[in-house]
Amino acid sequence: MITLTRRGVLAATTGGAALAATLAAPMVARAQGAAFRIGLILPMTGPFASTGRQIDAAVKAYLRQHGETHGGRRVEVLLRDDTGTAPDTTRRLAQELIVRERVKALAGFGLTPLALATAPLATEAKVPMVVMAAATSIIPQRSPFILRTSFTLPQATRPMAQWAARNGIRTCATLVTDYAPGIDAETAFKQSFTAAGGTIPLEVRTPLRNPDYAPFLQRVRDTAPNALFIFCPSGEGAAITKQFAERGLPQAGVRLIGTGDVLDDDILNDMGDSVLGAVTSHHYSAAHDSAENRAFLEAFRAILPNARPNFMAAGGYDGMHLIAQMLARTNGSEDGERLVAAAKGLSWMSPRGPVTIDAETRDIVQDIYIRRAERRDGQIWNIEFDRIPQVKD
Ligand code: DHB
Repeated sequence: MITLTRRGVLAATTGGAALAATLAAPMVARAQGAAFRIGLILPMTGPFASTGRQIDAAVKAYLRQHGETHGGRRVEVLLRDDTGTAPDTTRRLAQELIVRERVKALAGFGLTPLALATAPLATEAKVPMVVMAAATSIIPQRSPFILRTSFTLPQATRPMAQWAARNGIRTCATLVTDYAPGIDAETAFKQSFTAAGGTIPLEVRTPLRNPDYAPFLQRVRDTAPNALFIFCPSGEGAAITKQFAERGLPQAGVRLIGTGDVLDDDILNDMGDSVLGAVTSHHYSAAHDSAENRAFLEAFRAILPNARPNFMAAGGYDGMHLIAQMLARTNGSEDGERLVAAAKGLSWMSPRGPVTIDAETRDIVQDIYIRRAERRDGQIWNIEFDRIPQVKD
């Protein structure tokens, strides 16, 4: 049974001692100068650890650059590793952070299933939940306390499909990771590409866990489409692009296109020449030419000297900015409803360009860029050459 009060659900899931603590919490006056605690839950180990490393560094970069006091409150970030693959672990960590550590905001969420598992807790504890990474369309609908600073797969995919149809790609196979964001990408690509006159001769879905891409890419090669559209979670692009080259797809005349997840800036420079010319659509490239991005690169490198921030880092940096603004606009409130209300409709100039938190959907509205992988000064970058302004999910 679902109980809609904070008491009920936390009692049902945590037992007596934690319940007593929870009931006492609202009675305790906020100590003068007490820190505003944020529970940051990320995959710091496991197959998606690059997402955790990027977001953690970006949050630290934001606080070093903009200070730790916002709306009169010093913010304190409590980092927890959920290992990226177990929704129950993410939910348990969120619950412990809310009940024992008294965090007043949750943030992070590297993959969709982890965000979905935690959404009911945010609702019932009335704690804002800032999704910095996960990108399935439906996520913010799962709790009125969710705000998102990453992107959505349909938002990034439709411009790619339209660009492909306008640029000589008549037949395009799709290859997506077989879970919610992959299905979102596949659906959006199919709709937009066929509406623009294109044909999809082959659709393949690869497993999220321990994937072997070789047989799937062999099928693509046998089908010989003009292009292959790819979505995979951040980090997986290294293995996919390696197999793409080894299976001889470039020689067979198959162009590589996708959302920017496959040519993630964290690993792009190590992919080699076979990805040069690949066109992807996304909301952030480390090569984005703006003063805000240059400041972000500098702050990020002060935390992780030899890394390049990717789109996950952009989501983390903007998510921390959003929380800072929520605090500034409420004079450091701990009231989840007031904090979420303060986030609705907020606009700012991000390292990626202008962004807004849609007041109705609590999702991010942003420019989507079409980029080509090119070598500049010896390194590979996603060079933006077209921009579709202010795209909604
Ligand atoms: C998701 C995870 C990713 O690493 C990514 O690049 C896009 C989406 C997700 O699980 O929602």
